[in-house]
Amino acid sequence: MGALKETLRAVLNEEREKIKSLVSSHGDRTVDQVTLAQVFQGSRGIVSIFCDTSAVPPAKGLIVRGYPIGELAGKLPEDVFYLLLAGKLPTDAQRKNLQDEWAARNTVPDYVWKVVDALPQDTHPMTMLNTAVLCMQRESVFAKRYAEGMAKDEYWETTLEDALALTARLPAIAAYVYRRCFNKGPRLEGKPGLDWAGDYVQRLGFADPKGELTKLMRLYLVLHSDHGGGNVSANVAGTVNSALSDLYYALSAGLNGLAGPLHGLANQECLAWIQDLMEQFKGTPSVEQISKFAEETIAAKRVVPGYGHAVLRVTDPRFSAFVEFGKQHCPGDPVFKTALNVYEAVPKVLQKHPKIKNPWPNVDAVSGSLLHHYGLTEQNYYTVLFSLSRALGICAQAVHARGCGLPIVRPTALTYDELQDALKT
Ligand SMILES: CC(C)(COP(=O)(O)OP(=O)(O)OC[C@H]1O[C@@H](n2cnc3c(N)ncnc32)[C@H](O)[C@@H]1OP(=O)(O)O)[C@@H](O)C(=O)NCCC(=O)NCCS
Repeated sequence: MGALKETLRAVLNEEREKIKSLVSSHGDRTVDQVTLAQVFQGSRGIVSIFCDTSAVPPAKGLIVRGYPIGELAGKLPEDVFYLLLAGKLPTDAQRKNLQDEWAARNTVPDYVWKVVDALPQDTHPMTMLNTAVLCMQRESVFAKRYAEGMAKDEYWETTLEDALALTARLPAIAAYVYRRCFNKGPRLEGKPGLDWAGDYVQRLGFADPKGELTKLMRLYLVLHSDHGGGNVSANVAGTVNSALSDLYYALSAGLNGLAGPLHGLANQECLAWIQDLMEQFKGTPSVEQISKFAEETIAAKRVVPGYGHAVLRVTDPRFSAFVEFGKQHCPGDPVFKTALNVYEAVPKVLQKHPKIKNPWPNVDAVSGSLLHHYGLTEQNYYTVLFSLSRALGICAQAVHARGCGLPIVRPTALTYDELQDALKT
């Protein structure tokens, strides 16, 4: 793991020193205050996590290591993984080195296939994926070396080893989950020389003669790779990893959070919502019809999937990157056109409800229509695709957390009476 490990050693040494000096100079300064309401609002807006891989300023959207996500739209997922880990985009040689590291680790142990095969076929694809990740925990180099008495300063190196093994194997596992769940035939092997997304598309079994699905996958896997440290999947994975549970445990836990409908599962719900809409109006509905349908969804005390965000207050730039792709490659597709009409209609409807803080689309509002266009129509698979990408960010964050020596996460919880006491001071 020579070159990447040495680059990271230098990066992490610098990061650790920066944090040490910041805390020793300003450790007693206040960076935030907490209101009583925030305690009951899912800790929204409370600063209590350090994450340097990416940030989500509410008025701008995702910025990865200083790059607005739109600027990374033409990159490969391996470029973004390298960026998340090392803080800089790779040179051609560094990208090749990462691809070689993955190629050396991409054999999935045989028992994993047996575990996946033992699950009933109608198991949710996310459960299949997460079971596969968790059952591989016995492969963890971190756990093995910890049991042997590994020194603290080796934590990041063994976490990096686990990160590379997991990210190397996930495309094959995610692809097999698809083939098994949806009767697509036996498991397919990859072909040497393909990039991460290309290998995944090959293993899924799509012919892709014009290479457009591969292009979409590259974009999808780049756009979903990281979203700061406070979202459910990153936060949960980081918390679990902070207990020195290895990355297999942590990633599986984080991805279980991604399986929730208010988080990653929204992308499967979005396409379903658009299809219900098209079914009701027998074709591509007008903006007025969509507005009515959205009002009915809200009146039924349901959410309009793909709209709103816990942090963002503008149109998600990842949504805009997908729209750009659709306009270039499938402008006439009826589902894509409907997704665009939804964008015209829904924000105006949501703006009429003052409690909804962000009426704008998030990343999930359009991605399903593009996948649908290329024949990946099985909606309840979409969160697996999201997981494959988000694993890059979760793994990079874990390497950094262990490299910076961050401690176990332990926020304080107060009872009702203790909160009342706190108000007296
Ligand atoms: C993303 C989401 C969970 C953020 O939640 P949040 O931070 O609580 O958002 P808000 O503060 O704006 O929510 C305030 C209220 O507006 C509602 N609201 C927010 N977005 C809404 C939407 N798209 N449709 C209908 N109602 C919505 C919330 O459910 C909440 O209602 P409540 O007070 O009755 O519980 C929320 O916008 C949502 O459920 N969106 C749809 C699902 C989705 O697309 N998830 C993917 C996120 S990347």
